[in-house]
Amino acid sequence: MFVSLEGVDGSGKSTQARLLAEALGPETVTIREPGGTEAAERIRGLLADPELPLEPLAELLLFLAARADLTERVIRPALEAGRDVVADRFSDSSVAYQGAARGLGVGEVISLCDRATDGLWPDLTLLLKLDPEDSIGRAVGEDRFEAEGLLLQQTVAAAYDEIAQISDRMVPVDATGSVEQVHQRVMAAVEAHRGQPA
Ligand code: TMP
Repeated sequence: MFVSLEGVDGSGKSTQARLLAEALGPETVTIREPGGTEAAERIRGLLADPELPLEPLAELLLFLAARADLTERVIRPALEAGRDVVADRFSDSSVAYQGAARGLGVGEVISLCDRATDGLWPDLTLLLKLDPEDSIGRAVGEDRFEAEGLLLQQTVAAAYDEIAQISDRMVPVDATGSVEQVHQRVMAAVEAHRGQPA
């Protein structure tokens, strides 16, 4: 099973990805986007630098380059070996941040993500829902997106809601409350997905 976690910066994805991976067992592969291969980690460094000016299309293509490498070298081999993969962000982040917030177009970015991953999309995507006004204070550090403030996060949150409405695989999860409460909701969503006929 391939599960991704999505949400605005500071929504608690990384903590929940770790707890979900622990619950799924020691064979689970956890990845964080952008990153997860040597090349992708270097690309992450470029993208994280708020001082480095980047055109929106260049920004998107860097995310896609990192994802293409990660998908072929880590995610596909893990899934083929029967392992679960938990991703802290995947293609929906590009759709929300670059497609919607940067204005490159949602449909266009979905197509490019599909090309970069050779058609690999998660089986289940958990959208951690937290009001950007609450999450922005929790985001650690300041990358180029967090540095742009609340308006960008609100646009991203609205884009995620739209994707959730049209996508069968994206399940909204209430991300308010304690880490343990959110983890229970995450597990309930995963169990509900597992209980569905394939
Ligand atoms: P992180 O803070 O969750 O590690 O993610 C890094 C930042 O990159 C975050 O602000 C979201 C952004 N991002 C995109 O804009 N597009 C993408 O495709 C991905 C994976 C992340």
